[in-house]
Amino acid sequence: MKVAILGFGTVGSGAYEIIRDGKCGLTVKRVLDVRVPAGYEELVTTDYQVILSDPEIEIVAEAIGGLHPAYEFVTAALRAGKHVVSANKHLICHYYKELHELAAEHGCEIRFTPSAGGGIPWLYNLRRAARCDKIESLRGIMNGTTNYILDAMQHLGSDFAEVLATAQALGYAEADPSADIDGWDVRRKCAISASLAFHTVLGEEDVPTFGIRYITKEDIAYFESLDLSCKLLACAREENGRVTAYVEPTLLPSGAIESAIGSNFNCISLWGKYVGCLSFVGQGAGKYPTGNALVQDMLDIMEHSGKTPISLTAPVMDQTIYPHRYYIRTNAPVPCDVIERRDGNKYITRPLTRTEIHTLASAAANIDPQAFFAGLEDSIV
Ligand code: HSE
Repeated sequence: MKVAILGFGTVGSGAYEIIRDGKCGLTVKRVLDVRVPAGYEELVTTDYQVILSDPEIEIVAEAIGGLHPAYEFVTAALRAGKHVVSANKHLICHYYKELHELAAEHGCEIRFTPSAGGGIPWLYNLRRAARCDKIESLRGIMNGTTNYILDAMQHLGSDFAEVLATAQALGYAEADPSADIDGWDVRRKCAISASLAFHTVLGEEDVPTFGIRYITKEDIAYFESLDLSCKLLACAREENGRVTAYVEPTLLPSGAIESAIGSNFNCISLWGKYVGCLSFVGQGAGKYPTGNALVQDMLDIMEHSGKTPISLTAPVMDQTIYPHRYYIRTNAPVPCDVIERRDGNKYITRPLTRTEIHTLASAAANIDPQAFFAGLEDSIV
């Protein structure tokens, strides 16, 4: 299936490379950008009409960001009967209802998994869950930049301004990082998530928000003294047909799943009446994680269209890949050259391949059928 990507920035170029290097059945026929990089003259155009009027292009992937001209491009694509995928939370949040209605009117799909949760298939799975379950609530870390900041302040004792600068240099932060630290970015993601979860339409103005701009080292130290972690959480809940949604720095006990989420990772959970709690963890921002989510949305559309190529090849198995240490408890003899440590009938081996450990296990089983083997994860890098 042929597709076009609008915007050759971080996310657009990430999606382009994933499609170019994979064998997923998609082909990028055109990329739209204001500049044509050298070597990409055949691919990149500055004229959107070239894409719009090309009947071979069935999906338009929008990775421009901002409201305009993304809105004009996306609506024109839907009117031309092309499916749309978008990484643009601002656009999706602002025009949620209109874009869904326009897509339905023209028999097209609109997907926007990378717009909230970045690289994790949060919105994809929320959409699936909401099809037959009643989503009662959702909650999570939806902004990588602020999680990076809070994590570094808590665990490295970093200063707010210094760690924000690092997050910007790593490409996690928005162009204007106020959107991250004042919570506006999460507010849009929360509104999109709640709209999908509760089959309704929330705007960002429906989500009261506190940010983390003024958090200090002293605040963090105080939370630590109480064994609490501070995370910027988006929360939404429906009770008896009434909805609440909000974004706030939240103090969590150390056992909460979000407390263990470090760096720029996101972690978002839903509670369904039937499925219970489902949690999704992964990279919330960045070129390839977000580009990957954009490509996955295109693949889902291709799958629905019945045009997915099927190609199954026999695996080339190699059980010598990825050797690691093992724990063995046996009364059978264990060859000296594999032992790194011994405590009676308990051994820790040097890194072994699966071929080696299974050969050893077969020999041991003849003498000690109750021998026990376990891999050691600490040798896995
Ligand atoms: N600035 C955003 C974040 C990018 O840090 O999560 C992904 O939406």
